[in-house]
Amino acid sequence: MYLHAKIEKAAKYIKEGKLVAFPTETVYGLGADAFNAYAVAKIFELKERPSFDPLIVHIASINDIRQLTITEDDRIYKIAEKFWPGSLTIILPKKTSVPDIVTAGLPSVGIRIPNNEIALKLIELSGCPIAAPSANKFGKLSPTTAQHVKKQLPNVDFIIDGGKTNVGIESTIIKLNKKGFDILRYGIITKEEIESILPYHHEPENHNKILASGMIKSHYKPEKPIFILGKHNITYAKNELCLISYSGQNVEEYKKVILVSKNKDLKEYAVNLFSSIHELEESDVKAIVAEPVEEIGIGIAIMDRLRKATYKQQQ
Ligand code: TXA
Ligand code: MG
Repeated sequence: MYLHAKIEKAAKYIKEGKLVAFPTETVYGLGADAFNAYAVAKIFELKERPSFDPLIVHIASINDIRQLTITEDDRIYKIAEKFWPGSLTIILPKKTSVPDIVTAGLPSVGIRIPNNEIALKLIELSGCPIAAPSANKFGKLSPTTAQHVKKQLPNVDFIIDGGKTNVGIESTIIKLNKKGFDILRYGIITKEEIESILPYHHEPENHNKILASGMIKSHYKPEKPIFILGKHNITYAKNELCLISYSGQNVEEYKKVILVSKNKDLKEYAVNLFSSIHELEESDVKAIVAEPVEEIGIGIAIMDRLRKATYKQQQ
């Protein structure tokens, strides 16, 4: 079947209340019609996702935000114009017509326009905003290929294969407040880039509520033990380990080495981080050790994912 026919079939499925996994530029999403609460409930079921964890709603055009939010805040247009389509989710006050299950009962909804032609076409042909978390079991590694989705969610109604995603980690999530914006999850779009439009202003939230996976300490969990080099006490011999290397230095003696970036480019590390771990899950190494990077710019998002992937396992 040609790609366009696949997208048409997938859009038909979305209209019928079925679930479709599709590529975005960040990771693959598990999508359903955002206005169909029954379809959205199936996402939670298939992912085994707790109902307190709200979903991001994907739209294809900036005017579509009117279907989802009541805000009159002009600042979002400035941000959206600069970063959409792109890897930035904006949390906005929701319309009552957005089902509560989408937002886990929160009065706000996370919205983004993905920068991926297949995703955009799917949303357009479906004729509705698409609620979609990453297409993995809750707490596990996010998928960056259709094969990763198939492995974790074999019972999904349909998967559109769009190849490997080209950002590799999930979108940056921001929330606006009176003084500027706050970041709920770090991603490829950095705080500094957004600061060119709005000032950063951190607002301590009510911490009884988990507001984003950015705030859950454990996440992105692979099946194999994973460590951060120089930070954790590693109980495996080098010849049992795979090193995820950024610098390309001190790689001797490891059973396997994956160089995530040839040009020492943090974007490349992000693209290859989850996909390297997926690859290693299938290999014969006993455990994984990842080289840390400095926490500036995209390095913040990379270290956030590594910390969560290694959380608790190492204690
Ligand atoms: O790049 C991405 O954002 C991918 C692709 C598929 O778009 N999606 C993704 O979705 O990462 P998910 O569900 O794995 O993570 C979305 C996070 C959730 O942890 C959720 O808590 C947060 O976004 N979120 C969604 N709506 C929210 C809201 N109203 N307030 C605060 N956080 C929200
Ligand atoms: Mg996720």
